Amino acid sequence: MKVVDFYYFSGTGNTLLIVKKMRYVFEKHDIQVNLHRIERSDPSDIDPEHTIGLGFPVAELTTYRLVWDFVKALPEAHGTPIFMVDTLGGVSGGIIGPMREIVKKKGYSPVGAKEIIMPPNIFYIQEDKVCQKKVERGLQKAGEYALDIIEGRSNWGRVPILSDIVFFISRAGLRLTKSDLNQKLLNLKINKKKCSKCGICIKLCPVGNITMTEDGYPERGYDCEYCLRCTSFCPKKAISCPINYRGKTYRAVKIRDLLQ
Ligand SMILES: Cc1cc2nc3c(=O)[nH]c(=O)nc-3n(C[C@H](O)[C@H](O)[C@H](O)COP(=O)(O)O)c2cc1C
Repeated sequence: MKVVDFYYFSGTGNTLLIVKKMRYVFEKHDIQVNLHRIERSDPSDIDPEHTIGLGFPVAELTTYRLVWDFVKALPEAHGTPIFMVDTLGGVSGGIIGPMREIVKKKGYSPVGAKEIIMPPNIFYIQEDKVCQKKVERGLQKAGEYALDIIEGRSNWGRVPILSDIVFFISRAGLRLTKSDLNQKLLNLKINKKKCSKCGICIKLCPVGNITMTEDGYPERGYDCEYCLRCTSFCPKKAISCPINYRGKTYRAVKIRDLLQ
């Protein structure tokens, strides 16, 4: 393994931290790592001579549509090694097995899959100290996982039945964000009194779901992936998530790290 092209998506920074830790370990072992943001990448541009890494958060027991769309659009390969890492608050299920099937059918060689617990960024945001501890543990796991990949100890096994069931349920429309009605009910609220019209939320949204209205305020459409970037990084805390306990938000990195 000489070069890794690491494609990642991170809503609030947990996944980015993990991906960067893995890059650090790879580079210490003279493996070049190129980071690519999934929301800015064209899957057809991948280099089949490089090892492919995928990093993303768990959302609603599976992952975001933009991640699935990217993976499904990967070109055919002839044995290109591929590994994945996801970050989660605690419960996953519908990813490892189904994603392995997709990449395998396309001709990739799945060499590793790992789920790493990090602080939850939704519902109940934990105290800073608790989050810090979880991040430390997560980073340690990421380092160990990178080493496992380098030394050939990792694997991306088939996770039958349970994974398929969760995948099926999430596909079957039970996803919180899937329907228009749910998009309306869960609409992230933009508080015009707090908003300074800086437009950062528009830059942050990975799917172009926020636009600027004529009066200069952001407006959210009904195509939200619920990654919570806009909520977590709004400098004026003007965008609130209706299901976050006491309106608390979480972020693991600085805005500029996400936009790099
Ligand atoms: C909409 C949404 C759904 C989530 N669903 C799950 C879930 O099903 N299971 C879980 O363990 N964590 C879930 N989480 C928590 C995230 O997976 C976790 O905090 C992750 O590390 C966030 O990564 P990021 O900071 O890179 O976006 C969810 C978060 C969001 C915003």
